Amino acid sequence: MSRLLSVDNVSSGYGLTPALRNVSMHVDTGEVVAVVGANGVGKSTLLRTISGLVQPSEGDIVFDGVHINGMAAHAIVGHGLAMVPEGGRLFMFMTVLENLELGAFGPTARQDLKPTLDEVMDLFPILRERRDQLAGSLSGGERQMCAIARALMSRPRMLMLDEPSLGLSPVMLEKVFDLVRTVVASRDLTVLLIEQNVADALEMASRAYVVEGGRIVKTGPGAELLHDPDIQRAYLGL
Ligand SMILES: Nc1ncnc2c1ncn2[C@@H]1O[C@H](COP(=O)(O)OP(=O)(O)OP(=O)(O)O)[C@@H](O)[C@H]1O
Ligand SMILES: [Mg+2]
Repeated sequence: MSRLLSVDNVSSGYGLTPALRNVSMHVDTGEVVAVVGANGVGKSTLLRTISGLVQPSEGDIVFDGVHINGMAAHAIVGHGLAMVPEGGRLFMFMTVLENLELGAFGPTARQDLKPTLDEVMDLFPILRERRDQLAGSLSGGERQMCAIARALMSRPRMLMLDEPSLGLSPVMLEKVFDLVRTVVASRDLTVLLIEQNVADALEMASRAYVVEGGRIVKTGPGAELLHDPDIQRAYLGL
């Protein structure tokens, strides 16, 4: 497997408040890697820093052989790295179709807009049914699907998902996770996933990183962490 993303000794934060300290991690092509941890430990900051929404104060980020730290967020999407932000962040007063079209803003993605739209709607048939409905009128699960679909419209090689299960019922959660698995299998996509459903995330992930206080404190195969007594005590209520 080849290295797709490497984060090397990255620190970042907001103003004078550091949120991430000397974080190093990587994702190889075709992996599903999970980032788990309690509230406020820096998980979203990690994804925002990789996406170019927050600038690192030190360290290096390489995606597909290109140094992306310091690059504008839209340029990073153009290189094939897309993020689904926490809560989806859809444009609520635009239709499903308009939201999806916005995902294909890069020149190559726009050229392929029609076939990609068909592909994405095959993956999420509910979005085809709701294409002319305002995003604000979708259910929570449908919004999450629409947000994932919008990110896929940029034809990324790697997708970063910030808590796709947020606010979903267990049934809906299972659906969204199934879809993530389908997407990974069908598009040969690589996924970096933040999840507070630690058990589900570790079950799905090939590898995982555990974040505490802005640092990575543990890493290993998902199945191994699932049986780690510290993880069980801290995150699985066992
Ligand atoms: N825009 C911001 N300005 C200032 N501080 C911020 C900002 N966003 C996040 N923080 C702070 O940075 C720290 C890490 O936040 P982050 O959103 O990365 O946590 P998280 O692990 O994603 O938490 P959660 O599980 O609750 O989503 C927190 O202390 C948070 O209060
Ligand atoms: Mg978060």
